[in-house]
Amino acid sequence: MTTPTIELKPSSSPLSDAEREAILANPGFGRHFTDHMVTIRWTEGRGWHDAQLVPYGPLSLDPATNVLHYAQEIFEGLKAYRRPDGSVATFRPDANARRFQSSARRLGMPELPVETFVEACDVLVRHDEAWVPAHGGEDSLYLRPFMIATEVGLGVRPANEYLFVVIASPAGPYFPGGVKPVSIWASEDRVRAVPGGVGDAKTGGNYAASLLAQAEAAAKGCDQVCYLDAVEHKWVEELGGMNLYFVYGDKIVTPTLTGSLLAGITRDSLLKVAKDLGYESEEARVSIDQWQADTENGTLTEVFACGTAAVITPVGTVKSARGEWQQSGGEPGEVTMKLREALLAIQTGKSEDVHGWMHEL
Ligand code: PLP
Ligand code: COI
Repeated sequence: MTTPTIELKPSSSPLSDAEREAILANPGFGRHFTDHMVTIRWTEGRGWHDAQLVPYGPLSLDPATNVLHYAQEIFEGLKAYRRPDGSVATFRPDANARRFQSSARRLGMPELPVETFVEACDVLVRHDEAWVPAHGGEDSLYLRPFMIATEVGLGVRPANEYLFVVIASPAGPYFPGGVKPVSIWASEDRVRAVPGGVGDAKTGGNYAASLLAQAEAAAKGCDQVCYLDAVEHKWVEELGGMNLYFVYGDKIVTPTLTGSLLAGITRDSLLKVAKDLGYESEEARVSIDQWQADTENGTLTEVFACGTAAVITPVGTVKSARGEWQQSGGEPGEVTMKLREALLAIQTGKSEDVHGWMHEL
């Protein structure tokens, strides 16, 4: 596969420095977007073509465009960080590129070459570099690459035309409370993904399917839903947009990748960062019964959620049909916070990139 050269058509009216600075002072999550986006088209028989950096703006779609009806769509999420010397680097973009290819295969879409994915992110960050928040805090520039089926028609089959887009959004904390523990509703009836389905692909349908459960959790006073496996309704899988870790003293355990949960890049990184810090890390199946029992008998000392947007977020209260319990007295746990600090230090360039994860622009 050849990588098309990205043609530059920059905006003639980017936001003023003052407008941008006002946004960067309190970016929130996913509310503001930078001045540009990168778009690349794919057509059957022609492959990837028309790669462009263009002003950020609406896409024009025929009402019969395939994606609007059959949801042939995939996306990614990764971040660019400002380092102490003012330079900018992204975290493991090659890993996101490979997961994007794996999602594309599952959804019957064409695979974008890894180097094209990384180059598209680089070009956008380079042009909108002023949007990368200052070094010092936890804010970053969140990149959202996605691909949609753009063939016009109502036939149910893989489309013959696609559009790949990367947009960027300055990001503060995903949860408005900062590093405050989140409460979880462990749903025993609503499932997120089934064996053989698309749970391990990053595709919009998984998120659409989670919205009702999320609203039900909110009605029960919880911030997030924890999904159990769809067959036995007992094995813990993940949250709607984050993986989970269980802390047993100095060992951290995360649910095995069974095919119905997303292979998080933060999850994978923490298996390694934990070892750097002298903890043991392990992938294993964890049941909801074990979660409750081990919390009550004191062996399960902390639980946290992790993901690009959420970084590492402690879990506080857990509610389920079988009752309610609390992790680490409802406070962020010590191991959780040490891992969080160590990962963020690598990402923001405060500590040495011993794993070679940072991609400099
Ligand atoms: N699980 C789901 C369903 C997600 O949407 C995400 C977010 O990307 C994650 C887990 C965490 O993945 P990552 O660490 O690659 O962001
Ligand atoms: C991410 O963390 O990048 C995600 O895609 C999760 C989403 C809930 C924002």
